[in-house]
Order: sequence, then C-alpha cells, then structure tokens
Amino acid sequence: MTTIKKPVTELEFSKKYDREHSLNYYLKHQHGFRHRLTNWREHVMACKGLRLAGNPQSVLDIPCGAGRFWSLLAADPDRILYAADNSPYMLETAARFQPAEIVSRFKCFQTSAIQIDLPDTSVDCIFCMRLLHHIIKEDDRLAILREFHRVSRDTVCLSIWVDGNLQAKRRKKLERRRRRQKPKNRTLLARETAEKEYHRAGFRILGHFDLAPGISMWRLYVLKKT
Ligand SMILES: C[S@@+](CC[C@H](N)C(=O)[O-])C[C@H]1O[C@@H](n2cnc3c(N)ncnc32)[C@H](O)[C@@H]1O
Repeated sequence: MTTIKKPVTELEFSKKYDREHSLNYYLKHQHGFRHRLTNWREHVMACKGLRLAGNPQSVLDIPCGAGRFWSLLAADPDRILYAADNSPYMLETAARFQPAEIVSRFKCFQTSAIQIDLPDTSVDCIFCMRLLHHIIKEDDRLAILREFHRVSRDTVCLSIWVDGNLQAKRRKKLERRRRRQKPKNRTLLARETAEKEYHRAGFRILGHFDLAPGISMWRLYVLKKT
C-alpha cells in the first residue's frame, strides 16, 4: 500500500474499523470452535464459488479485511491478485499477520466499495465476503453492486445473510426484540429481494452455496455480468 488515506465513512458501519477493532477481527476467526468451524466452511464455499466462476485469473478481494482468504486466493500461482479495504488498519493487520510470501502476491490499496479506485473491467472477478450484510439501505447495496459491475470483467462472488434457515428465524426474533433499543447494524435479506437486486445491477446468477444448508444464514452467490 502506498498511501494511508482517511477512511471513507459514508456508510455508518465503516467507522468502527480502527486499529484495535481490526486486530480483534483478525483474532476472532482464530479462536473458539464455532468461529473456526464457520471460517473453514466459508473457505469451502469460497473455493466452490471460485470454481463456478471459472477459476478467474485476476481477482479483487474487497473488502479484504485481515486477509482471511488470501491463502485460498493465492493457491493458483498464476492468479493476479488485488486486495482493497476502506480501513487502512485492516490492510495493516493483513500485511502484518498473513505469511510474507502470500502478502507479496497482492497489490493492496485503500478504497471504498462504493467508489473503487480502479478503471472499468480491471479484474476477472470481484470477491466480496462479509460486506453486504452490513449494508442496510437498498440504494447503498445497489451502488456497490453497480460498482462491482463496472470493475469486474466477468464475475462476482459475494456472501450475504439470507432467510429460509434456522439462524434467520432466530435473527428475526432478536431484531423484533431489539427494534426499539438500537438502530439495525446488519441486515438479513429475503432471497428473492437479494436476487432481484443482482438482476437490477446487471448480473445473472450462476449459482449459490450455503455455509450449512437449512441452518446458517450465510450464502455465497456467484454472479455473472449480463
Ligand atoms: C466483516 S469485515 C469482512 C472482511 C473480510 N472480507 C472477511 O470476510 O474476513 C468488513 C470489512 O469491510 C470493510 N469496510 C467497511 N466499509 C467499507 C467500504 N465502504 N468499502 C470497502 N470496505 C469497507 C471494513 O474495514 C472491514 O474490513
């Protein structure tokens, strides 16, 4: 990364990724059986998604966070790799904790998913894990999807929370209880709603993979530009 810019905070949730939160985010996925199991299942979904996307030869990992998927993305020795995040502290954490030989494969830069600092059709695939469930407003989600459409030449792999499973039922109950106390900071989408948004942004759905079918809210969609 060449310059450290002030993070863009047009999205409310973007503000929380300071140095301490970034380190905790990295550590969170290493600790406890549940986190490690989820992390492993997410890697399985991601692996299947990339295969369905045609094993893209250039990938932008956005938001890359602490580089959780870098080893997986770098498993193809010929792949050209970019990694971006709105938070300079997340980029710093990734560079600090991922193996040096993996870090050196990535061109890293700080940018917002709403306005990616790359020209049109720069990469074969955009890889976007755990961003869109934080984006509460439909207009913001559409702005991000349209930006992905501009920057990707071909496909997008993205993960979101969908309904139609056990966790979603529990989440809906929790949200009903919390409604009056706190503003919503994550969003669970009806599958039809999410899929309509992809079509509106100019994608068709190649397929999807669930983290634990019927149980988990996490779903990875593979989208192709129409
Ligand atoms: C839940 S983490 C996911 C990180 C990584 N994809 C993963 O799954 O481990 C959310 C990430 O979104 C980043 N972020 C927040 N606002 C953003 C924005 N406007 N554009 C790009 N990234 C953003 C945060 O800095 C953070 O790294």
